[in-house]
Amino acid sequence: MEKLCTACGQSFRPAFVYQVAVTGDGRRNYFCSLECRKSGLGDEAFRARRARRIAILNQKGGTGKTTTAVNLAAGVAERGHNVLLIDTDAQGNVGVSLGVNGEQSLYHVLVEGVDPTDVAVPVRSSLDVITSDATLAAAEIWLARQNPDNRSRIMTKRLNLMQVSRRYDYVFVDCGPSLNLLNQNALSYADEVVIPVTCDYLALVGVKQVLRTIKDIERHLHHAVRISAVLPTFYDGRTRLAREVLETLQSHFKTKCLEPIRLNTRLAEAPSHRKSIFEYAPQSNGAADYNRVVDWVVASSAVKEAPTPTMSAAEAVTTTQPEAPAPRAQAL
Ligand SMILES: Nc1ncnc2c1ncn2[C@@H]1O[C@H](COP(=O)(O)OP(=O)(O)OP(=O)(O)O)[C@@H](O)[C@H]1O
Ligand SMILES: [Mg+2]
Repeated sequence: MEKLCTACGQSFRPAFVYQVAVTGDGRRNYFCSLECRKSGLGDEAFRARRARRIAILNQKGGTGKTTTAVNLAAGVAERGHNVLLIDTDAQGNVGVSLGVNGEQSLYHVLVEGVDPTDVAVPVRSSLDVITSDATLAAAEIWLARQNPDNRSRIMTKRLNLMQVSRRYDYVFVDCGPSLNLLNQNALSYADEVVIPVTCDYLALVGVKQVLRTIKDIERHLHHAVRISAVLPTFYDGRTRLAREVLETLQSHFKTKCLEPIRLNTRLAEAPSHRKSIFEYAPQSNGAADYNRVVDWVVASSAVKEAPTPTMSAAEAVTTTQPEAPAPRAQAL
């Protein structure tokens, strides 16, 4: 489709990554040439980038979402990437696990429109956290009162600032165990989802529900969410049930099913010491298993960042949701 160049006004058909950029005010700009991009965006012209947004989701309770979010965020930050971890669960387990009690929380970002970079608390080198607490229940009520057409996109609007995308390489979102508006907001903000699944029979039912939720979000919000991985958790290879559930997950999700996180008491102990598993028990099975997941995240980013000269303009959008049609979630 032909667009008008924001800088020179000439009509052209965008074909390259650099020809589309979304500015902090949410405006989509088109540039017919590198010169026009530079004159339109100034110094920022070649620095536009987009943080990778990963939601850790399963509406079933106790599947290892927070453990995964905290250790993935901590592990990726330890590798030197800038990471923002957002807690969208009123239980506030992320802050407790890392020993941080933010003065302001996700409530202030969502309801009061406070700049997320002011609310984020640095907890480790390269790792900032936006915490949550019981006030999030009020945020849920507030969201329910907003216009039904856009109440699921408020998190996206609040976090879709240049500052967030510039400051962070990764944004991890820890979701609560429900189907509430906060989770819908998290899903419409995220580009991809990692689903931790316990290795028991009912967990398989839970995965089906997650897949349905993702499909619904895609259909209603016209927003593509990729299931980038299913992560079997609490795996105890001594039990037949765990082995069978793992096989089922592997046969359905193929390469998207990651190596399981073994049942490991060190993982359960680490939060009470306010430490990630890498700080608390670096030699444990839990650390080894989550290290593998961190490797996978970082390696899959490296693949994405490889030069793609023929990438479509839609993929080039740097700070807002792509316009491309939503891909279908894989059915279980
Ligand atoms: N692999 C594991 N081995 C042993 N304990 C674990 C493991 N993973 C998580 N745990 C512990 O199990 C409990 C539940 O884990 P977690 O809080 O991560 O689940 P969740 O999905 O976030 O729960 P919720 O749905 O309530 O938010 C926690 O006490 C956690 O420390
Ligand atoms: Mg949790």
